[in-house]
Amino acid sequence: MSGASLSPVLKQATPVVVDHAAGSWIHGTDGRRYLDFTTGIGVTSTGHCHPDVVAAAQEQCTKIIHAQYTTVMHQPLLRLTERLGDFLPDGIDSVFYANSGSEAVEAAVRLARMATGRQYIVTVQRGFHGRTVAAASLTTAGTKFSAGFGPLMSGVATTPFPDALRLGMTTDDAVDHALKEFDYLLATRLSPSELAAVVIEPFLGDGGYLAVPPAYLAGLRERTARHGALLVLDEVQAGVGRTGRFWGHQHTDGLVPDVIITAKGIASGFPISAIAAPEAIMAKAWPGSQGGTYGGNAVAAAAGVATLDVIEREGLVENSRVRGAELLDGLRSGLAGIDQICDIRGTGLMLAVEFGDPTANAGGPRAIEAARLASSVQQACIDEDLLTLTCGPTGSIVRLIPALVVTADEVVTGTERFVRAVRRVVEM
Ligand SMILES: Cc1ncc(COP(=O)(O)O)c(C=O)c1O
Repeated sequence: MSGASLSPVLKQATPVVVDHAAGSWIHGTDGRRYLDFTTGIGVTSTGHCHPDVVAAAQEQCTKIIHAQYTTVMHQPLLRLTERLGDFLPDGIDSVFYANSGSEAVEAAVRLARMATGRQYIVTVQRGFHGRTVAAASLTTAGTKFSAGFGPLMSGVATTPFPDALRLGMTTDDAVDHALKEFDYLLATRLSPSELAAVVIEPFLGDGGYLAVPPAYLAGLRERTARHGALLVLDEVQAGVGRTGRFWGHQHTDGLVPDVIITAKGIASGFPISAIAAPEAIMAKAWPGSQGGTYGGNAVAAAAGVATLDVIEREGLVENSRVRGAELLDGLRSGLAGIDQICDIRGTGLMLAVEFGDPTANAGGPRAIEAARLASSVQQACIDEDLLTLTCGPTGSIVRLIPALVVTADEVVTGTERFVRAVRRVVEM
C-alpha cells in the first residue's frame, strides 16, 4: 500500500502547512508565524477563528449539522436571511443560498435567464466569476481559468472593461470608450431583446484589484434597465466590508442592482453563498429550479449570522476603510521611487501593487518580466513571514487582502515586511 497524494492540478501559492490560526496570524507546522494578508482569498473576514464565530458553529453542531434545505428548513438559515436583510439594499428582499461563489454565479445566470426569458449574458473583460464551467464561461481574467476544457457555455458575450491604466487613457475616456463598445456589442452581436443580464464585479478581484469606475456601473445600470435586462453584481470578493463599505457597489451613488451575488466573507470561512434579488424577480423562476444537497448548511449559516453580528458590533466596515487607507499610505511612501512599480492602489482592504508597464503587450517580454517580478515579490514576502497573493490577467499584480479585524500595528508590520520584500527583489 503506497497511500495517495494530492493531485498536481492543485497549485499552491505558498509552502505553508497550517497548524492553527487566530485573527490575522497563521501558525505553520514549520514553527513560523505568518501575517496573513490573503485571508483565504478574502474569506476570513472576521479573522481566523473569531471566538464568536467558533462558538456559533460549535453550538450549531450540537443541534443539527445538515438540515437539507429542500427537505426541512432550519433556524440558522432563517436568521441569516433576516440578518442579511439588514445589509441588502431596499427592495432586494429575496435570498437563495448555495455553497460557493461559482455556484451562486450559476444560480444568478439561471435566475436571469428564467426571469427574462432571454438567453444572453454579457460579462465584462477581466472579470473573474469562478471555475465551474458556466462560471468559467463568464470569466475573462486570464486564459488559465478556461484553457483546455472547452467548449464553454454558449450564450455569453464579453464587453471591454474601462481599462484606463492598460489603455493609457483617462478614466473618463476609458468609461466613454467601454460604454460605446457595450452599445456596439448590442448593435452587432446580440440584440438587446436577447440580453438577459450583464454580470460584473464592482471591483475586479482576480482580474487585478481594480475599482470599476462608478460612471461605468451607472452607465450599465441605465442601459440594462432600458433594455429590460438585469444588472447582476458579483460581490463575492468585494462585498461584506472588503472595500470599506458593506457592498462594493455602494461606492457608486444611488446604484441599485437587480441581483447581488455574495459568498467568501459572509461566513468567515464556512462555505456558504447566496444570490439576493427582489421577490418579483425571484418569483419568475419556477419553484425547484434552484437547489442542491448542501446549500445553506446549518453550521455555515450559524457562522454567517455570527459573522454579520461581529462585523456590526466591532465596526469592521469602518476598520476596513481606516486600516486600508493606512496600508495604502504606508505602501505608497515605502515603495516610492521604485521604477518597476507602475501603480499602488486600494479601496478599503482590497489593495494591489502592480509591476511593469500596464500598456505593454500582454504576451510580450515586458509583461512576462512584470509577472516574474510580482511572483518573486510574493515569494519574498513568505521569507518575511507575510502571506500575499498575485493576480491580474498576466500575473503582474501582488494583492494584499488583510482580515477586516486587522489592527494598526499589524498594518505597520505588514507594510514593513512587504516593503523589505519588494526592495530585496528589485535590488537583486
Ligand atoms: C468575484 C468572484 N466571483 C466568483 C468567485 C468564485 O467563487 P468560488 O471560488 O467560491 O467558487 C470568486 C472567487 O474568487 C470571485 O472572486
